[in-house]
Amino acid sequence: MSHFLHIFFFFTLFIFYAAPAATTTATGFRGYRDSQVLTLNKLKWTQQQTLRANCFTHSSRTKKNAIILELHNRDYCSRPISDWNQRLLKNLLSDQIRVNSLQSRIKILISNGLNQELSQAQIPLKSGAKLQTLNYIVTVGLGGRNTTLIVDTGSDLTWVQCEPCGSCYNQQEPLFNPTNSPSYKPVLCKSTTCENLADATGSSGVCGFNSSTCNYYVTYGDGSYTRGDLANDNLVLGTTLIQDFVFGCGRVNDGLFGGVSGLMGLGRSALSVVTQTYDAFEGVFSYCLPSVTDEGSGSLILGDETSLYKNFTPFSYTNLISNKMMPTFYFLNLTGISIGGVSLQDSGFGKNEMLIDSGTVITRLKPTVYNALKTEFLKQFSGFPKAPAFSILDTCFNLSSYEQVEIPTMKLHFEMDAMLTVDVTGILYFAKADASQVCLAIASLSDEEEIGIIGNYQQKNTRVVYNTKASTLGFAKETCSLD
Ligand SMILES: *[C@@H]1O[C@H](CO)[C@@H](O)[C@H](O)[C@H]1NC(C)=O
Ligand SMILES: *[C@@H]1O[C@H](CO)[C@@H](O)[C@H](O)[C@H]1NC(C)=O
Ligand SMILES: *[C@@H]1O[C@H](CO)[C@@H](O)[C@H](O)[C@H]1NC(C)=O
Ligand SMILES: *[C@@H]1O[C@H](CO)[C@@H](O)[C@H](O)[C@H]1NC(C)=O
Repeated sequence: MSHFLHIFFFFTLFIFYAAPAATTTATGFRGYRDSQVLTLNKLKWTQQQTLRANCFTHSSRTKKNAIILELHNRDYCSRPISDWNQRLLKNLLSDQIRVNSLQSRIKILISNGLNQELSQAQIPLKSGAKLQTLNYIVTVGLGGRNTTLIVDTGSDLTWVQCEPCGSCYNQQEPLFNPTNSPSYKPVLCKSTTCENLADATGSSGVCGFNSSTCNYYVTYGDGSYTRGDLANDNLVLGTTLIQDFVFGCGRVNDGLFGGVSGLMGLGRSALSVVTQTYDAFEGVFSYCLPSVTDEGSGSLILGDETSLYKNFTPFSYTNLISNKMMPTFYFLNLTGISIGGVSLQDSGFGKNEMLIDSGTVITRLKPTVYNALKTEFLKQFSGFPKAPAFSILDTCFNLSSYEQVEIPTMKLHFEMDAMLTVDVTGILYFAKADASQVCLAIASLSDEEEIGIIGNYQQKNTRVVYNTKASTLGFAKETCSLD
């Protein structure tokens, strides 16, 4: 690996010295102990992105005991975006709303304990907060139909918009119609499954108008919500059939789910896809998240089939910590961070659990840890013109006159010597298409008591394997694409 970087490094240097006068652009070359080269042009947002016709027919494959579902970033499927700057700002605002809601849900769970009434954990709906947060989508079969869903490791209940619909947002595929599916069965309100809703959604199931059906209600961080009947139907993942899969038939739904039919919950409690498919996949799933600009597709693999991973560095594993008060979430023990090979010093490392989430975009660190990281980053990534802060990101640069910059590597270290090397595309966030405002893509929590979150921006081009059976989580570098 370091050998590879060296070759790349000299190649870049060669280009720089070979044609210094031919261009007015410059290479931000520094020579850190441990660094990577980022080509800025490649990451500039393209304004001419077009709607892809095949966006809603994702492929899947089955191999041995695992299935592979194609995974896309939702921006890949969106309409041409007229105002990128506005879009990027909205993405970060909604990310902050999600994080605030996760934090307040966690606070309530901690102070109340598990058996208390959890309804207070619901976040009040913020009108107008119809923004985009969750980013990756897959296609599965439900009740005999192909259905495209958003993937979320921070929630448990899978749901789709359902007929007859009281209030549904616009979606690309036809609504799920229970009357067209002979295998559809409502879940009764006096059942264990209905009781499991408390763990899965933070709000217990209630008997509906028809007292034999179990009604659910879920609110998400960004003001999105879904409400409807809990039901069973056949779920087909690749070629694997899961009979009597429990999901929500959503009759009142709102939020910018981007024309997608619903959501797939990959959390940890009884109603999540991971738990419900335990017999088939033994509680193991993994993903590799592509970066938006790669225009490629990543993959979500259910099942532990290491031959399917295309990692080019070995896996390192850490403990997946469970917290009885927060059964949905996946926690890790962060033991250190290094920037350009320099280890940050903070007394909090190894003492606090951190949450790993596919739905949060930007990684959040405790203020002391963030400040140590920022200070070290600025020390190494020095000499670049500064730019104003952008939303939650306070460390920004004007890199518009650079074609390439060398940026220090960022590594997150976890218990058992596991390590997440942040991909070179996951360190800086492009707030302006012309690179005149490029920010360190990590944010500070508002106080030390809040729980750190590893967001999806820092998980790009990494195979992340969740093994709920062995309670481990593994990281390895992979270039995310399906083939
Ligand atoms: C679902 O999509 C797959 C792959 O595109 C296709 O082969 C299959 O026929 C579709 N199934 C249904 C029921 O539409
Ligand atoms: C209530 O739901 C059950 C199960 O779907 C159904 O058999 C029954 O007819 C419904 N009752 C009413 C009053 O709608
Ligand atoms: C985290 O890991 C460190 C180092 O292995 C260990 O000393 C500490 O007890 C762990 N903390 C938790 C909360 O598990
Ligand atoms: C960024 O830097 C370029 C070149 O140095 C300069 O022309 C431009 O005005 C700067 N942009 C902003 C927004 O500061």
